[in-house]
Amino acid sequence: MIIKTLTKSYLQQHLNEILNIDHIRMGKVENWTSRNFILDLPLKFQLSLTSISDKQVIGYIIASKKEKTCHIHRIAVSAQYSDQGIGSKMISVLGNKAKSKNLKKLSVEALKKDNLKRFYLKNGFQPLNKKDQKVYSIQKDPKIRDLFLEKYSVFMKDL
Ligand SMILES: CC(C)(COP(=O)(O)OP(=O)(O)OC[C@H]1O[C@@H](n2cnc3c(N)ncnc32)[C@H](O)[C@@H]1OP(=O)(O)O)[C@@H](O)C(=O)NCCC(=O)NCCS
Repeated sequence: MIIKTLTKSYLQQHLNEILNIDHIRMGKVENWTSRNFILDLPLKFQLSLTSISDKQVIGYIIASKKEKTCHIHRIAVSAQYSDQGIGSKMISVLGNKAKSKNLKKLSVEALKKDNLKRFYLKNGFQPLNKKDQKVYSIQKDPKIRDLFLEKYSVFMKDL
């Protein structure tokens, strides 16, 4: 298994594999289409990652720069490879990449699932305080908003 930068050209070549994992793993929550994946955002195609095994995409993180933070928009590992440390390894690689870009922390809006909370806490994330939460966009659709936990954040020194 290797983890590498998800460049725009790699994403375009492997879009169907990524969409397939996304539909299965993320379900109906904030349904993403190819447009969401391809959309340009600050440092997106330098920070985002993909995990590859036997030339197949088995996981990815879509991330971009928001002010001094590296924000995780999407993270998923395909079911047959989950619980093998791949998600945690990608978080660790992302932390180092973000640091090299002089970003100070990682942030993510975590879904309301107990095992996800464990995943983020295990990887050093902490809930953002109320003041910091205002910096990030808030889910507008109340049905979707209700699926989210408070946002989690981790400072680089904690990674
Ligand atoms: C969350 C996810 C990326 C973790 O990747 P992973 O490679 O399985 O993670 P690791 O093996 O490094 O860590 C395992 C931890 O993840 C959590 N986890 C495992 N399977 C999970 C699942 N299906 N859904 C949510 N969390 C899960 C568990 O808490 C586990 O912790 P434990 O070892 O203490 O039990 C992956 O499970 C996934 O793709 N989930 C579905 C998509 C999703 O919910 N994304 C996050 C949106 S905020």
